[in-house]
Amino acid sequence: MTTAVDLTDLDMWARGVPYGEFARLRQEAPVAWRPEAPPNSGFWSVHCYSDIITASRDVATFSSGRGISFEEPTDEDMAARRTIIDTDPPEHTKLRKIVSGSFTQRAVAVYQHFVEGLTEEVLDTGLAAGEFDFVDAVAKEVPIRVLARIMGLPGGDLDTFIDLGDRLIANTDPEITDVVWGRDDTDAYRRYPFRSPYGKQLWDLGREIVAERLRSPGDDLLSTLLRAEVDGDRLTETDLDNFFSILVIAGNETTRIAIAQGVLAFCEHPEQWDRLRADPGLLDTATEEVLRWTCPTHFMRRTATTDTELGGAHIRAGDKVVLWYVSGNRDSGEFDDPETFDIARSPNRHLSFGRGGPHLCLGAHVARLEVRIVLAALARRVAGFELAGPPRRIRSNFTNGLRELPVRARPA
Ligand code: HEM
Repeated sequence: MTTAVDLTDLDMWARGVPYGEFARLRQEAPVAWRPEAPPNSGFWSVHCYSDIITASRDVATFSSGRGISFEEPTDEDMAARRTIIDTDPPEHTKLRKIVSGSFTQRAVAVYQHFVEGLTEEVLDTGLAAGEFDFVDAVAKEVPIRVLARIMGLPGGDLDTFIDLGDRLIANTDPEITDVVWGRDDTDAYRRYPFRSPYGKQLWDLGREIVAERLRSPGDDLLSTLLRAEVDGDRLTETDLDNFFSILVIAGNETTRIAIAQGVLAFCEHPEQWDRLRADPGLLDTATEEVLRWTCPTHFMRRTATTDTELGGAHIRAGDKVVLWYVSGNRDSGEFDDPETFDIARSPNRHLSFGRGGPHLCLGAHVARLEVRIVLAALARRVAGFELAGPPRRIRSNFTNGLRELPVRARPA
């Protein structure tokens, strides 16, 4: 087996997702050991759909407790910044129970009219120019406002949330943050989210909002967190910091990526746009296909708790195991013609929200609602999209983010 491509080479990811390399790896090395530059210790790279599902289901063997990124934090670092996504049952089950009621399909459906109104407003301004950066004008505007509504965040802080979220999710892109993981000495920030000083800024902002909410509680998600008890105790300040930061980060960037990368997919497959416009009955399957195709979060990492076997590989206790959802989403063992963007695809059991395990994206119904409503509104208002310049990708192997998507939109 040749190992031509280094999946930790972020400059390569900035140019594009290595779909061809993943196709080769699925064939030749479904689960492969990959060395890493110190201080990291290397990882098992898992490429096939069925192995990803197996590992996701078996949380006793494949733990989230050492974090979900390539970073190898110490116990103290982990204790300071552990969020729900970095826990295993039974702790995970308790934390999830606090918030799950706010994210069921039924609970989320109440936001439909709000999201529709917001989307029309954003499009009134965004589409007016005819030629514009879709990320800036549309994709980044909707998710943060929906999140603000659900969590009860003050409107005046939204640009700050967007900016801090960008600097954290894209902590490997020197054009987005001045404190770059893997390049700069980040030791001083190792207890903060994403090992970044901007993680601390997000916590500080969260604490101000929490203090205000304690004075006047409401029926928003933050108030739910403040009322919550686990085993008879209220959440600690550290728990609240971390719940706040994961919700703001996970709920904002990912959905923005799905919307922006979705429009890029339609720029590249104009016949699928015509098909959607001709048949709005395809909106549900189109939403799922946009999610499969764009896979906003490329991977989740697990850590083996014991010696085990996965896809023929012998994994040792303590090894890092990286589940490449972006590769599983193109696996012909699960999807017919996986390299075809087909908005009528069904079934479509994509991995973009994870699958099979307890960490399945908490916000999946919110994200689906947003993507569906934005697609529906665009399909009514835009006859066709074309690129007005090259899209610019974020330098990251974690997120499929776009910094810029210059488009021309032909009005319907
Ligand atoms: C298209 C948009 C989104 C994508 C692609 C996405 C993707 C993911 C993925 C891959 C996971 C981890 C699953 C696993 O470990 O297997 C996850 C977990 C999570 N997501 Fe999302 N997400 C999106 C939107 C949202 C939204 C809108 C929210 C909140 C409002 C949210 C909140 C969370 C939280 C809190 C977790 C951790 C859940 C847990 O550990 O139990 N996400 N998401």
